[in-house]
Amino acid sequence: MAKKPLNVGLIGYGFMGRTHSNAYRKVNHFFDLEYQPVLKVICGLVDAEARAFAAKWGYESHATDWHAVIDRKDIDLVDICVPNNRHAEIAIAAAKAGKMILCEKPLALNAAQGRKMVEAVEKAGVPNLVSFNYRRVPAVTLAKNLIDEGRLGKIFHYRANFLQDWTISADVPQGGMATWRLDIKAAGSGVTGDLLAHCIDTALWQNGPITDVNALTETFIKERKNVETGKVEPVGIDDACTFFCRFKNGSIGNFESTRYARGHKALYTFEINGENASIRWDLHDLHRLQWFDHKDESKLRGWRSIHVTDAGGDHPYMNHWWVPGLQIGYAESFVHQLADFLGAVAAGKPPSPSFREALETQKVCDAVLKSGKSGRWVKV
Ligand SMILES: NC(=O)c1ccc[n+]([C@@H]2O[C@H](COP(=O)([O-])OP(=O)(O)OC[C@H]3O[C@@H](n4cnc5c(N)ncnc54)[C@H](O)[C@@H]3O)[C@@H](O)[C@H]2O)c1
Repeated sequence: MAKKPLNVGLIGYGFMGRTHSNAYRKVNHFFDLEYQPVLKVICGLVDAEARAFAAKWGYESHATDWHAVIDRKDIDLVDICVPNNRHAEIAIAAAKAGKMILCEKPLALNAAQGRKMVEAVEKAGVPNLVSFNYRRVPAVTLAKNLIDEGRLGKIFHYRANFLQDWTISADVPQGGMATWRLDIKAAGSGVTGDLLAHCIDTALWQNGPITDVNALTETFIKERKNVETGKVEPVGIDDACTFFCRFKNGSIGNFESTRYARGHKALYTFEINGENASIRWDLHDLHRLQWFDHKDESKLRGWRSIHVTDAGGDHPYMNHWWVPGLQIGYAESFVHQLADFLGAVAAGKPPSPSFREALETQKVCDAVLKSGKSGRWVKV
């Protein structure tokens, strides 16, 4: 059967622009979908860069003003891969124009802005999704399935870390194209919105709502040169954040994120301890899930390392790839995300996580930042 074309306008040709473009290119080679994405237009700030990106990835055209993408009648899907402070205005305009929207995380700068985005997409009735791609790593999805099957029993602890080390030098500037993440105006927050948002999304998905948080945040380097103004200015972001929380199901959580953990580049790990079993996952070994089952015969009991590559149907997504034993990686989480998005749209179902679901993560981030300032417990 001929596939239905789905015309894509992608805004932002940076890191995420590449992961998303790769997913559009690959998705129909591995998944049988009703829709065929067509790369119509790539948009970014610098004309020559946008042109070169279009040539490299096969976009039909390029633009430097995102309004021009939204104004195009032939665009079905607007994909937002720009810094956080641009998400809301682009998403709200795209919703008003009746476009489907795929938006990078975090949803917004804060929950107040996120609520307006939710209102806009729900009023327009357009399919919407926020790119919490780690949900689509097969081992992470398998962990969710094992929890939903009740194998862990009552859950006591949820523990997650996301550790990096790239801002330890005081010479790293803030602002501009390469270092917008250090500028509070562009990023909204530091590690909380950038890294912990991923951990929080996965935790809410696997373990349900968080009700209360108590956070400690720190900005180790108080002033940095701003590449836009050329001046040394105060740093407004959280460089590190640790928080404790209570989940609605009675379990407790602790989360830590920093860009000052020398030696760690993108160490996202989580561990979940239940009455019957425990699960552990590590982004640096992303195709493995560590599993401990107390029901095992005691002389053989221990942590198992499950290589999540079974193509027979037991391991999520893996029947779309190679043969058992051969692993996939980071880029494929975006292919899975897109396949799920397009599959949901074809089936007339809401894609997940929607803007509304991502707003829950944003509310936790807001509560964490508020608690970090006051030093008190904050209700989400
Ligand atoms: N899902 C993930 O794991 C993940 C990973 C990295 C980044 N992100 C998110 O993706 C988004 C983009 O991050 P990135 O790392 O790709 O950034 P980047 O700095 O690599 O790229 C940003 C792009 O946005 C474009 N841009 C900036 N302002 C614009 C404007 N006003 N109009 C049009 N284009 C504009 C720039 O030209 C550039 O191409 C952020 O929201 C970030 O939080 C998500």
